Amino acid sequence: MKLYIDTANVADIREMAWLIDGVTTNPSLVSREKRPFAEIIAEICGIVDGPVSAEVTAIDAPEMVAQARELSKIDKNVVIKIPMTIAGMQAVKTLSGEGIRTNVTLAFSANQALLAAKSGASFVSPFVGRIDDVGGDGMGVVAEILDIYQTYGFSTEVIVASVRHPRHVIEAALLGADIATVPNDVLKKLFCHPLTDIGVERFLKDWEGVPK
Ligand code: E4P
Repeated sequence: MKLYIDTANVADIREMAWLIDGVTTNPSLVSREKRPFAEIIAEICGIVDGPVSAEVTAIDAPEMVAQARELSKIDKNVVIKIPMTIAGMQAVKTLSGEGIRTNVTLAFSANQALLAAKSGASFVSPFVGRIDDVGGDGMGVVAEILDIYQTYGFSTEVIVASVRHPRHVIEAALLGADIATVPNDVLKKLFCHPLTDIGVERFLKDWEGVPK
């Protein structure tokens, strides 16, 4: 399973660049950086040699397509994030015909993911954390999407998004998701286990008793 980092913070991206396969951003993450959007995306593309998702902010399909064409000029690795709406899927269809890769965002059901794939999306992002937040079963939705995509041979890759904790990453991997996009604080937690800390401490303490 590929791991992306879910942030627009270039310091976090530089820190984890050796590990990650790509980056996802969204308007909320970008707004925290207080810098021009295109400048951030260009800098990220200079750090990571993998897909970098940049989201459109238009509502209607022609404007989404226009924004997507501009964003895709920044770098060959830019993937256009498009919200799961009827206009969004019309834009995805147009962009897919032009060879511009898209990541359908704000997907909360298997039906939405089916429509994203049929529209020609390169990626779909089910938001597992936000589904769980309202009492749903985020990973259940991911399982349904993977099942449907396998049955019909869709090539759209599934990015497990809105990841809140390490268990989400384990479950994404167990289900065979293509990618999990993970905030930096959760990425760091993946390395940790209290028994590892205790073990390191004990080995170092015992080493002190070895004659030098
Ligand atoms: C995915 O591409 C989104 O940027 C992100 O995972 C949303 O996560 P949130 O629900 O924590 O905002």
